[in-house]
Amino acid sequence: MDYTFYAKTTDETREIGRKIAEIAQNDGVLLLGGDLGAGKTTLSGGIGEFLGISDEITSPSFVVNKKYADENGDTVLSHYDFYRLGDDVGIMGDELREDIFNELFVVIEWGGSVLNFLPRPYWRAKISMEKDARKITLEKIA
Ligand SMILES: Nc1ncnc2c1ncn2[C@@H]1O[C@H](COP(=O)(O)OP(=O)(O)O)[C@@H](O)[C@H]1O
Ligand SMILES: [Mg+2]
Repeated sequence: MDYTFYAKTTDETREIGRKIAEIAQNDGVLLLGGDLGAGKTTLSGGIGEFLGISDEITSPSFVVNKKYADENGDTVLSHYDFYRLGDDVGIMGDELREDIFNELFVVIEWGGSVLNFLPRPYWRAKISMEKDARKITLEKIA
């Protein structure tokens, strides 16, 4: 189950985020890879739209985690960016486990140090910058 998308604009990256949320929602965990500025947080904005979140999704890089509620007030999305923590995940690892247990949709940027925490299957998307578009691949990790 592999998908490849191309986004030429920020809006297209968001639209692909909506599609990815639809594909991955039942498994609940999405790892987002790609360099700084590739579009991981932009894509997360599309995921938020799909989940019915009216707040704009913003980078959680300083606070590491942000949670979002849908229009019913139910918390539905937990968005992590582990860039700042490096390998020293600390108590945020427990927080991540709790979000997975609570069946939130969990989106993780810079998740290399939390792979052991993830349930199987999960989904992995990678964004790479090509000449005139972002290439976005999506695969299910069994
Ligand atoms: N397909 C695209 N083409 C051109 N620019 C894009 C595209 N997708 C996103 N961007 C822009 O690239 C930047 C990516 O920032 P961000 O989503 O914060 O990246 P990351 O979270 O990967 O560091 C934003 O300014 C966004 O508007
Ligand atoms: Mg980001």
